[in-house]
Amino acid sequence: MNENPMLVEVKNLKVQFDVRDGIIKAVDGATFEIKRGQTLGVIGESGCGKSVTARAILQMVPRPGKIVDGEVIYHRRVKSNGSELIDHVRITELDPDGREIRKIRGGEIGMIFQEPMSSLTPVYTAGTHIREAVSLHRLMPIRKVETQMVEAVRAHREVTKQEAREIAIEMLHKVGLPKPEQRVDSYPHQLSGGQRQRVMIAIALSCQPAMLIADEPTTALDVSIEAQILDIMRDLQETADMAILFITHNLGVIAEMAEEICVMYMGKVVERADVVTVFYEPKHPYTRELLKSIPHVGKKTRERLASIKGMVPDPFNLPSGCVFHPRCPEYMPGKCDRITPSWTRVGRNHWARCLLYEEV
Ligand SMILES: Nc1ncnc2c1ncn2[C@@H]1O[C@H](COP(=O)(O)OP(=O)(O)OP(=O)(O)O)[C@@H](O)[C@H]1O
Ligand SMILES: [Mg+2]
Repeated sequence: MNENPMLVEVKNLKVQFDVRDGIIKAVDGATFEIKRGQTLGVIGESGCGKSVTARAILQMVPRPGKIVDGEVIYHRRVKSNGSELIDHVRITELDPDGREIRKIRGGEIGMIFQEPMSSLTPVYTAGTHIREAVSLHRLMPIRKVETQMVEAVRAHREVTKQEAREIAIEMLHKVGLPKPEQRVDSYPHQLSGGQRQRVMIAIALSCQPAMLIADEPTTALDVSIEAQILDIMRDLQETADMAILFITHNLGVIAEMAEEICVMYMGKVVERADVVTVFYEPKHPYTRELLKSIPHVGKKTRERLASIKGMVPDPFNLPSGCVFHPRCPEYMPGKCDRITPSWTRVGRNHWARCLLYEEV
């Protein structure tokens, strides 16, 4: 048996932005893994590196960002002569514009980013641009939803045009787009922002990815549509064994969707455990502060993350030792400002990066 539950491993990932004022270490040694069919939630304050991590997994770091260290390994399932093998693809070694990554991007690993129209270039003409846009899963304003969906589906699944159109309509129906048989023939500018977001979600899901990267996928949608889309994701997770990397500020959604949680601060994963443990027995003072003012964790509240006292540090002038120490209620002078905490086991399947739990 080639049973390998591991799907994507991120090891010591470092992404930097070399900007005029210096270097921003947007992701600074992030390590985590996602198993088949699992939902991993990622939380943390704004600017802590969630989106850059998500993009790095698909070699889509925006310029002038660069992956400077670490690896992302995708354990692809391949069928060979009736038996199943695992192909260990080192995504970080692939050419970001090459064929291999395009096959993975949007197909085997799908993604939904917030506000897809905001990153649109106004006019696409050349075929290469169109292919690029399809593989990046952007909606192009000048082309019909149908054309874009059919192309995306057929790039990743062996179906006829007619079948792809049917898959597209069915998916649009599932994501709650009214009159999908008609809407499929409209242009993106004829749809509202929420409808376009649902089209993007439909595209990502209709390619049957092994993993979906969902970066604040439903933030712009209203609550009932959001619930409907979360249901579809869970459904696909069960029927197609899809894994999800779920990034959100909405703790109610995380509690509902995720099995495990990574908490990020300043480009590092500072705590990781299953969802119940993170919510009820957080160990890292950062996680505790983050969760503090949430009244009904686990209920379907729309609570967003609380804000923590103090400011996120200046990325060009990071604090010594533990980067959280200037804001930490448990700050131990002489220790936390001098020693960089390491990844320490603090419970069963529970890890944190904090000197409270480390013998030094
Ligand atoms: N194109 C860019 N150029 C320069 N710096 C960038 C760029 N994109 C991101 N960064 C920096 O990388 C760091 C991490 O940003 P990232 O977008 O990953 O945060 P985030 O956790 O997703 O925040 P949010 O919750 O607001 O979405 C930030 O310091 C940000 O300023
Ligand atoms: Mg983000």
